[in-house]
Amino acid sequence: MNNLSRRDLLKTSLLAPAVAAAARNVAAHGEAAMSISDTAPASGLALQGAAAEPPDSATGRERLLLDFGWRFHFGHADDPARDFGFGGGRTGNFQKTGNFLPAAGIAFDDSAWRALDLPHDWAIELDFKNDPALSSKGFYPLGRAYPETSVGWYRRVFELPATDAGKRISLEFDGSYRETMVVFNGFYIGRHSGGYDPFRYDVTDFATPGGRNVLLVRVDATLSDGWFYEGAGIYRHVWMVKTHPLHVKQWGTFVVAQVKSGEAALSLRTEVENHGKAATSARVTSTILDPSGNAVGKASTAAASIPPGEDHTYEQPVVVKRPSLWSLEERNLYRLVTEVEAGGQIVDRYETRFGIRSASFDAERGFLLNGAPVKWKGTCNHQDHAGLGAALPDAVQHYRIRKLQEMGCNSLRTSHNPPTPELLDACDEMGMLVFDETRMMSSNPEGLSQFENLVRRDRNHPSVFMWSMGNEEGQANTEKGLHILTAMKRVASVNDGSRPVSIAPIRAIGVGGLVECDVMGYNYMDPQAEAYHQEHPGIPVIGTETVSAVGTRGIYITDPEKGYVGSYDPYTTTGRASAEGWWRFCNARPWLAGGFVWTGFDYRGEPSPYEWPNIGSQYGIIDTCGFPKDSFYYYQSWWTSQPVLHLFPHWNWPGMEGKEIAVWVYSNLEKVELFINGESLGAKEMKKDSHLAWIVKYAPGAIEARGYKGGELVLTAKRETTGTAAKLVIKADREELVADGEDVAMLAVEVHDDQGRVVPVADNEVAFSVSGEGKSIGVGNGDPTNHESDKGASRRAFCGLCMGIIQSTKTSGSITVEVTSRGLAPASVKISTKSTTLRPQVPGWEREVPSGPGISGLWRPLPARPEGSGLLAMILGSGNILFSLKQEGGNLTGSVEGTGGGFFGGSDAPTPITEGKVDGPNVSFKAGNSTFSGTLQGDQIELERRIEFGFRLPTPEEPAGTRPAIGPPPDGSDPSIGNFRFVTPPRLVLHRVER
Ligand code: GAL
Repeated sequence: MNNLSRRDLLKTSLLAPAVAAAARNVAAHGEAAMSISDTAPASGLALQGAAAEPPDSATGRERLLLDFGWRFHFGHADDPARDFGFGGGRTGNFQKTGNFLPAAGIAFDDSAWRALDLPHDWAIELDFKNDPALSSKGFYPLGRAYPETSVGWYRRVFELPATDAGKRISLEFDGSYRETMVVFNGFYIGRHSGGYDPFRYDVTDFATPGGRNVLLVRVDATLSDGWFYEGAGIYRHVWMVKTHPLHVKQWGTFVVAQVKSGEAALSLRTEVENHGKAATSARVTSTILDPSGNAVGKASTAAASIPPGEDHTYEQPVVVKRPSLWSLEERNLYRLVTEVEAGGQIVDRYETRFGIRSASFDAERGFLLNGAPVKWKGTCNHQDHAGLGAALPDAVQHYRIRKLQEMGCNSLRTSHNPPTPELLDACDEMGMLVFDETRMMSSNPEGLSQFENLVRRDRNHPSVFMWSMGNEEGQANTEKGLHILTAMKRVASVNDGSRPVSIAPIRAIGVGGLVECDVMGYNYMDPQAEAYHQEHPGIPVIGTETVSAVGTRGIYITDPEKGYVGSYDPYTTTGRASAEGWWRFCNARPWLAGGFVWTGFDYRGEPSPYEWPNIGSQYGIIDTCGFPKDSFYYYQSWWTSQPVLHLFPHWNWPGMEGKEIAVWVYSNLEKVELFINGESLGAKEMKKDSHLAWIVKYAPGAIEARGYKGGELVLTAKRETTGTAAKLVIKADREELVADGEDVAMLAVEVHDDQGRVVPVADNEVAFSVSGEGKSIGVGNGDPTNHESDKGASRRAFCGLCMGIIQSTKTSGSITVEVTSRGLAPASVKISTKSTTLRPQVPGWEREVPSGPGISGLWRPLPARPEGSGLLAMILGSGNILFSLKQEGGNLTGSVEGTGGGFFGGSDAPTPITEGKVDGPNVSFKAGNSTFSGTLQGDQIELERRIEFGFRLPTPEEPAGTRPAIGPPPDGSDPSIGNFRFVTPPRLVLHRVER
């Protein structure tokens, strides 16, 4: 393009008033270009081996963790100027492909952005705000009224090796809260709505193999789903997946096992996608590896031709002899290795972990796992944890499951949303049954796609036994609900078909759309469930949500002013069942498959039963940190077979001398005798699924319970009146971590008296100091009214306890955590971190700072002058220019990044400096289509920039004839030529920068 016509100029909108028209012209131009390439001869319509394209080096799948090395900055939900220009400026962000926002450019100055790693939840970092509208969010300022804390931007630069050319590259987000916009290398990629379901973008067309790439993500947490805390930001992992163009689709494998005597008949389904340019003949070989890694089954399909842009589903039967079944006790995990072969080469290898087990719900016997009845001793759980909010490192999933298992819990419901995949991995590995729940009960595209993602993603997890299509949706009971749930059930049967569906209903059982449930759920309606079972004896029933008892850990006097509830079980506050009330009902009915107590852990938001100053719920059997409440031991007594004896309350009641105190015992022993200060208050027989209680006149000293079985003393439990706080004790849940920058240890801190007894009323402020190869990532204490920051360096003890969470770095060594508190003896713990092979990850990237004399170094214009995404920015760049200068004598070399949008040949990629000279204060050089010249003035460089556009403006012609006073010349010449005013790039004043 050497001679630019007026129309061309209009298209570039250098004539300001013509912006809109220009946009239309360019769009039309774009369409034309597209149709040309569409009609170009196709390269090889005949069936051909995939090996022909891309090169061999492009084969082989990689799945790289993209959690490390991000930068974060708050945006603004209402103000484009504070939202990195999004929605501001003269022209639309979506106007031109590849020029979306300056912050997506390589040269963008993100030095004011905070460095962090994922998973990240910014909500937990905010200060509490006493606004009743925020109660469900735990009083963190998110939403329309809080635009300045509701939008977060994430930025990550990385290099892709040149060998990635020809591969398909996609980005997978496990979950991000809640509306996520992804921009890659300046290209708008897409937006995802929904805070819990995974999403994926194929970014191959926009990637720069052999160069730098910029991923920019805007997360908007203004809108919310829940009545509970949900977090904000990229709070789950992000992955980069690279494959050959011919590959197994995302979640494209599915294994179903039919267990028969002595063998398992596996049905394998494999979906292969052809992203190549030609139809390709491909076949699939599936190898089954047993838990020890031995191949125990193999099958290959016939070749099938897959047209470009399409996929093909292969079905294969494989028999595994004498399978090791997956069960709660033995978590035998098999692997399916899928190899896709084309043109004589393996082009993709994909692994799927699965388990072989049989499962069924029986209307009379409840749930049967591998043929034997297993009662679901379950809890519902939200996903947040003290100190971390919704962003849980994987190890915390294991910690939480361990806690639930300690009390005998064998199942969980992922209320009320799709879980993070690592929770299910932990359940597979540790043996938990999962009732896997979607977020949106709807047959609208969003609802169906969320549910489909859930089913496709989770269908190979042996721990997942049933799909939940929603929670307490009044519409489920109606005819509309019937339409919706029929459509949703179809999604489950098309993509799985091996598991039942259910829903956690409200107000009624089995009406409207609820007839679609294979297993009838019910929330809290025990009597109605019984009636339903009698009327429908052929339909299995499960308690999808039960109990909802409240209690504050370590508190025994209910005090609405303080926001605390005594921990004796009957405090349901909502009139729903107590722990004991429900479990006795459930355990006495074999037809009832079990149920899910609301909740295993306390959670933020939905402050219950009190509002502010409470910021969280008190439904948990375990507090937000993982410290058990007393009711934990009720469940432990009746959900485990280990001997249990738990005595409460504590025995520090100054001023209560002579007053009556209810003393309770949770135990599964046959007889318990209670003593106060050595004097027996009598022995009582323990009834099944019950507890024991005595009324005791308080006297300082000790209460003691002695538990007997078969006449033998099995356990004793003691609560003593302690002295005042004297020292701290710190206990880590792990002695050793792996040095992968991800692993965590949970540190319980106890306040002891001088005789080593936990002081149950202590609330001392505890400071954490971490040294060595680790860092603190959060603190907590389980107090539902505490307003200290979960990200602070200290935390007040609550009823004698608090918690710190530390994370390893990627360097092996050791971590020392010291805890101190005024007036108390400090304590410390040392945890070693051992070196490990990091899981494959996208390497970090930092720009090199040129070293050397003179003006060597990094320089940026002052102040940064973002031009937004407008057309001016296409010509001049966004103002985010970065100069990497290296001076050697009078010679200047280096590069310039961010010289402008592609329209006129400017580039984001580093453009080498040529003809660079430094002569005294004078500096001059060329980079791409720009010539820079100016002077060094103190610690700044003032530069002029001239741009060579590669075209000449037409010179005005003299009209041949006379020109009328009004109107164009009669000879048809264009009188407007020559009136065009070209933009002069502003002078740049450069200053030195670090990045
Ligand atoms: C249920 C609801 C839960 C929680 C609980 C509190 O009805 O499904 O999300 O709100 O009540 O008791």
